[in-house]
Amino acid sequence: MKKISSYLLICFTLVACQAKKKNQPQQEKSTIGVISSNGSVVTAHPLASQIGVDILKSGGNAFDAAVAVQFALAVSYPRAGNIGGGGFAVFRNSNGDTGSLDFREKAPLAATKDMYLDKDGEVIKGLSLKGSLAVGVPGSVDGMVELHQKYGNLPWEELVQPAVNLAENGVILTKFEADKLNTFQENFKEVNNTSIYLNNEKGWIKGDTLYHQNLASTLKRIRDKGRAGFYSGATAQLLLKTLKKHDGIITQGDLDHYHSVWREAIEVPYKNYKIISMPPPSSGGIALAQLMEGSENYDLKNSGYNTAETIHIMTELERRVYADRATFLGDPDYVEIPQEMLLSKDYLRNRNSSILPGKATPSAEIKEGKVDIIESTETTHFSIVDKKGNAVSITTTLNGNYGSKLLVEGAGFLLNNEMDDFSIKPGHPNQFGLVGNEANAIEAEKRMLSSMTPTIVEKDHQLFMVVGTPGGSTIITSVYQTILNVIEHGMTMQEAVNAKKFHHQWLPDQVLIEKGAIDNGTRNKLKEMGYTLKDVKSLGKMEAILILPDGTMEGAADYTRGDDTAFGY
Ligand code: GLY
Repeated sequence: MKKISSYLLICFTLVACQAKKKNQPQQEKSTIGVISSNGSVVTAHPLASQIGVDILKSGGNAFDAAVAVQFALAVSYPRAGNIGGGGFAVFRNSNGDTGSLDFREKAPLAATKDMYLDKDGEVIKGLSLKGSLAVGVPGSVDGMVELHQKYGNLPWEELVQPAVNLAENGVILTKFEADKLNTFQENFKEVNNTSIYLNNEKGWIKGDTLYHQNLASTLKRIRDKGRAGFYSGATAQLLLKTLKKHDGIITQGDLDHYHSVWREAIEVPYKNYKIISMPPPSSGGIALAQLMEGSENYDLKNSGYNTAETIHIMTELERRVYADRATFLGDPDYVEIPQEMLLSKDYLRNRNSSILPGKATPSAEIKEGKVDIIESTETTHFSIVDKKGNAVSITTTLNGNYGSKLLVEGAGFLLNNEMDDFSIKPGHPNQFGLVGNEANAIEAEKRMLSSMTPTIVEKDHQLFMVVGTPGGSTIITSVYQTILNVIEHGMTMQEAVNAKKFHHQWLPDQVLIEKGAIDNGTRNKLKEMGYTLKDVKSLGKMEAILILPDGTMEGAADYTRGDDTAFGY
């Protein structure tokens, strides 16, 4: 009965929302997002956004809604939503307290620095990307349990149940989802040595229903037993059995040892704003903070949105920041990160003094900055604000699309391929082309460096923006541009999300330009300055909320690049 009523509720609310959407400006040319007074939920999938808003309406706070959304995405958005991966949460409570939760995956106890190299020290292609050895110890379920225990209001079971319902009743595939599943059909078979339930011999089409029966059983165990429903008992046994069958190295000891970590958020001022973001093991917060602080020395408002001059300055800042990222950042529990120095105004002024007007600096001339205290592409984001003003910004991932592609047999969930985010060999680029160094080398139980940048912005000490995106190495620069688009270029939240983006990450020395981001005149000017430009179809898939001067919220989903949906009430 409970199951049926929840299903009907979802059907009803979806129909209601579709009807509502007709009156909402969420169309291709939309310049303003969904305005609401009591709460806003913005995610990559309408079913997850709806579940989040339903939780807020039934008395849950932003943390409750975040837990429900995380599990709902694991069902409705299996390419990145997950229980077999990890992520980061940044939050700001209504009383102004801030913090972050690190539920990033960890290297298994048996992991070694050279585990992806052959006897000649060369990288074995694909080993860190596909199958059992690519898998880091998952953190998402522990993260949700921690978040709920510390800040949740509603009973845990009520937050997991909507995802159980989705899994049992099936999810109707959108065109984006059907196409994405079709792209990986052969990979699923190859990695699992057989077809899995995500395979469809005829190919998936929009409107097909994907049922997740085994995942429903796993979610019921998590609903009933919390952490133990995943890290021990039947789920753990199925997980370890699958990994063993595929020569994996994760053991029950790894599952027992896994714990999320509460960390102080990175906080830096930018004019009368404060940027609050994720600390290491994500590079996102430090890199974004360096970019924002560096930007204060330039009049980007005057130079204008996506002009050659603005792209030049932002690109030069990005080039230097990503060089620092590759050198200094890693798991803070294993390496000493010169955080204070990297964020100091003196360091950044010095570092950025080599930026010349109208001239690109070749990346070969940029080394990591001199710091003197050294001792030692598929992800998903959601943003939530509740009526009291609690704000949660979560980016979560399996790393690649559908992670390692390895499905836990009998448990219905995919495992991550997060091990590729380690520097598997110094100087060797990962799947995002990022190079790394010793700071991010593999060690047992260490967390791999990330680019995820769940962020919250204050204006005049009040909540102003909640923002984040998937996109691997491009996450940091997409968040950076989206914030500046609102603060400096006067865009609405929706315009800033829709806006075409660009990206530079030191190496390779090229500027990625999203289709439609610049005109030919700007393109020519950038080439004359010495830039190599590379056109790409899409950059970023932002999910953001802006608090407007009258206290209402503008929820802006990246609906031009996916099924992303903002709901409010
Ligand atoms: N796996 C993408 C990231 O963590 O940045």
